[in-house]
Amino acid sequence: GITRHYTLDIKMHNVTRLCHTKSLVSVNGQFPGPKIVAREGDQLLIKVVNNVPNNISLHWHGIRQLRSGWADGPAYITQCPIQTGQSYVYNYTIVGQRGTLWYHAHISWLRSTVYGPLIILPKRGVPYPFPKPHKEVPMIFGEWFNVDTEAIIRQATQTGGGPNVSDAYTINGLPGPLYNCSVKDTFRLRVKPAKTYLLRIINAALNDELFFSIANHTVTVVEADAIYVKPFETDTILIAPGQTTNVLLKTRPSYPSASFFMSARPYVTGQGTFDNSTVAGILEYETPKHAKTSIKNLQLFKPVLPALNDTNYATSFSNKLRSLNSKKFPANVPLKVDRKFFFTVGLGTNPCNHKNNQTCQGPTNTTMFAASISNISFTMPTKALLQSHYSGKSQGVYSPNFPWNPIVPFNYTGTPPNNTMVSIGTNVMALRYNTSVELVLQDTSILGAESHPLHLHGFNFFVVGRGFGNFDQNKDPKNFNLVDPIERNTVGVPSGGWAAIRFLADNPGVWFMHCHLEVHTSWGLRMAWLVLDGDKPDQKLLPPPADLPKC
Ligand code: C2O
Repeated sequence: GITRHYTLDIKMHNVTRLCHTKSLVSVNGQFPGPKIVAREGDQLLIKVVNNVPNNISLHWHGIRQLRSGWADGPAYITQCPIQTGQSYVYNYTIVGQRGTLWYHAHISWLRSTVYGPLIILPKRGVPYPFPKPHKEVPMIFGEWFNVDTEAIIRQATQTGGGPNVSDAYTINGLPGPLYNCSVKDTFRLRVKPAKTYLLRIINAALNDELFFSIANHTVTVVEADAIYVKPFETDTILIAPGQTTNVLLKTRPSYPSASFFMSARPYVTGQGTFDNSTVAGILEYETPKHAKTSIKNLQLFKPVLPALNDTNYATSFSNKLRSLNSKKFPANVPLKVDRKFFFTVGLGTNPCNHKNNQTCQGPTNTTMFAASISNISFTMPTKALLQSHYSGKSQGVYSPNFPWNPIVPFNYTGTPPNNTMVSIGTNVMALRYNTSVELVLQDTSILGAESHPLHLHGFNFFVVGRGFGNFDQNKDPKNFNLVDPIERNTVGVPSGGWAAIRFLADNPGVWFMHCHLEVHTSWGLRMAWLVLDGDKPDQKLLPPPADLPKC
């Protein structure tokens, strides 16, 4: 591999969408941010310069960061944020990964405007395990809010209650023609007939899983979260915040007399408020040289998307995702398990107790939501966990006593148990190097029924099982897929159901795990794993870089 240098200048930039102009935090004055391209095996040196009033940190979502946890990015987990006027060089090498990932701000809600594609090409001379595409096109879904980020945060963490609904979904920052005052801000993909295009699809939306479909075309899914999958054809994909999906689009054999909407809108399981708005881009066939009329003035077709709450579609799509598991790209599912964990994920009532002099995070009275993993709503520390661990000064920063099982036993069936009681804390789960972990994530769905896209930093995991209702530890493991389960970094834990994952803790450091719905993360649905160094020199976390920001 080679070394690639990037400079990302975090600066304010005026952007107008839906006839609203706002000054937002941007990367290099671009919204979304520029794409970063590297090859498997390359070293990246990305200098991030903070020229905004806010503290900032950047996360390279899905990058394994083997022994380089200092470059992972979540603020107060692996680093103190980069302060105004300061810079930090994220230094990491891409090992054994190729495909589409992305980067985003990892502090507060700044990822609403600070995000971009991170594309890892295979090593030079190594082909894709699918036909070579004519062109590759990143398509990154996001959300546009007319109000500024501070107002969004206030709404989520202080007024409590419902999630903040954005004003539009976007493709590459563009809401498209179905929104008011937005026709000119439409993502257009110009194609030639009888060619194959690789769409690198990223869901950077804050709070919604999305269905995506192109009218009158099918796509072939070939990769998810930078892992090749068994190819399958579909007319609609489902993608959760944090996830990436590569699809091949084969254009029609000859020029059609039409253009086609490429649309996305949410998959929402909750009964509460939901946003049924739709973002559309346009797939346009280039007008052939001798044509009399421009094709785009002819007909416009729209795709039929599944209903907002179509859980059957969502489930059957997710079940089709299997690791390619070829000779070259085997699925190395851990077959023996050293430690089994059962965590509940969900919303509960707010733990804030002024009498005990606890600091209140987020919602400030008991009628408001808190979110938790195993009844602990994770409080952000004021010092970075990784530094505290490395320097042996964990006291007063975190407790390494995250419970193996939820504090309040959980039973989904029957009358909802009183499982909404939550305590707050900065608790981490410590693991020996190379521990093989099985983790069952059980959604409680007691308050607000929504799927939770759980994201684990520092690892890929295998999704060995998913189901609805209570996880049954006697029956369900018998049906685990240990042959070709999907390997990824973000899994949708079904609303009122569970997901079982396995991973090998072969990466020393502190690794954040959280719901990738920003509103749930900020309410506390997050925790961290602490993986200890192994005995051999190449099993240890590297020392911190000299320019690592200080708190
Ligand atoms: Cu993409 Cu911790 O996040």
